[in-house]
Amino acid sequence: MAKNKVAVVTSLMIFSLSSSLYLAIAARVVPLLENRQISTSESTGLFDTSNYGKFQLNNGLARTPQMGWNSWNFFACNIKETLIKETADALVSTGLAALGYKYVNIDDCWSAPLRNLQGRLVPDPKTFPSGIKALADYVHGKGLKLGIYSDAGTFTCQVRPGSLFHENDDANLFASWGVDYLKYDNCFNLGIKPEKRYPPMRDALNLTGRTIFYSLCEWGVDDPALWAGTVGNSWRTTEDIKDTWASMTTIADINDKWASYAGPGGWNDPDMLEVGNGGMTYHEYRSHFSIWALMKAPLLVGCDVRNMTAETKEILTNGEVIAVNQDPLGVQGRKVHVDGCREVWAGPLTGKRVVVALWNRCPEAVNITANWEFLELTPATTVSIRDLWKHENVSGNAATSFSAEVHSHDCKMYIFTPVASAHSSSQ
Ligand SMILES: *[C@@H]1O[C@H](CO)[C@@H](O)[C@H](O)[C@H]1NC(C)=O
Ligand SMILES: *[C@@H]1O[C@H](CO)[C@@H](O)[C@H](O)[C@H]1NC(C)=O
Ligand SMILES: *[C@@H]1O[C@H](CO)[C@@H](O)[C@H](O)[C@H]1NC(C)=O
Ligand SMILES: *[C@@H]1O[C@H](CO)[C@@H](O)[C@H](O)[C@H]1NC(C)=O
Repeated sequence: MAKNKVAVVTSLMIFSLSSSLYLAIAARVVPLLENRQISTSESTGLFDTSNYGKFQLNNGLARTPQMGWNSWNFFACNIKETLIKETADALVSTGLAALGYKYVNIDDCWSAPLRNLQGRLVPDPKTFPSGIKALADYVHGKGLKLGIYSDAGTFTCQVRPGSLFHENDDANLFASWGVDYLKYDNCFNLGIKPEKRYPPMRDALNLTGRTIFYSLCEWGVDDPALWAGTVGNSWRTTEDIKDTWASMTTIADINDKWASYAGPGGWNDPDMLEVGNGGMTYHEYRSHFSIWALMKAPLLVGCDVRNMTAETKEILTNGEVIAVNQDPLGVQGRKVHVDGCREVWAGPLTGKRVVVALWNRCPEAVNITANWEFLELTPATTVSIRDLWKHENVSGNAATSFSAEVHSHDCKMYIFTPVASAHSSSQ
């Protein structure tokens, strides 16, 4: 029965698709499906979307990865309402908002250390004297959305009241303030499994009737890609990012393992951006941003957007790289080839295009080659190539392979568009 179904799918694909790229995909799909008859073990194929959209939290959000800003990476606990307002202003004045960075997310430390006598969370009266509702109104007035933070435990990581066993009260309060996004952390969790602690807040948010983005932050401890798709709009796959090359590369590799589980409605979250915080070089930050975009990671800026250098702004405002992240096909790109410290990452985009990143993790400049085999393209496929960092087309089309010299710790990023050939269109 299952075998017949595979044969039908395969022949439909071969007869209905004419470009050489799609023939190549169809040809590769056969072994992937056949393997699955024998074993349910995971495939790492570039076009493997076997778990894509399998789980869905149907709140209508996250059709593409969320974009915005979060206070933690740069400010940690040093936050106050004027900072949040100035950040909203800066998102607009720098052009970041127009590029899609619309969530203004307050992380830990917005709340007073204790609930009030009615058991409600209270904004810290010293740092948020006007309250969160007023802040939400301000942010909405700029055409942006406001995010807040709580914890699926008895306390937040900075020991403010947590929402465990207060899910309905807190969700109602957030909704009454006009909050649009909740990041939900994992500290002081009483040893209860995340699979038990995260769904009650999903249900509480849903019951408020307000559409609120639900961002799970259980640090990847219980492999959330396997269960969180029906619970949240994104789920952290790793521990917190640090502003270092070692942390960023480690996190990218962990997040990569879960690629086939991402899709519109729910995304793997390798944590927020460190671009602009000073711990990495320009080239390292360019790699960080390129790979996060290709992996369909949330693009949540983590620097002080009121005071960005020209280089930071250049990276964060690269509209061509952002368009890869926001491509409506919504398939997470992945690491497709490793040769020592030379890496090729790639993923499919709409319009039969392929995004390709040549990532140099070596301590010196090297040439990196993307063979069509890594990209699951037939050798006959000819592509035109767009360089997303130079913002220009690479002269001459390529066939069989493409190479470029890449600076140490830098990443070159391209879109390959198959060129229709007389050969393939005559079939
Ligand atoms: C609540 O959940 C239902 C069922 O998934 C969904 O159709 C609805 O849009 C959700 N409402 C909100 C406000 O998220
Ligand atoms: C702006 O950033 C620079 C470093 O890029 C720093 O030296 C300076 O103190 C910052 N200014 C403010 C007002 O934060
Ligand atoms: C990369 O390849 C080009 C062309 O073969 C060559 O000129 C260049 O020296 C190579 N760069 C490195 C770092 O090996
Ligand atoms: C560059 O390539 C893109 C797609 O590969 C194409 O749409 C565009 O017309 C090209 N631009 C120029 C100036 O050739």
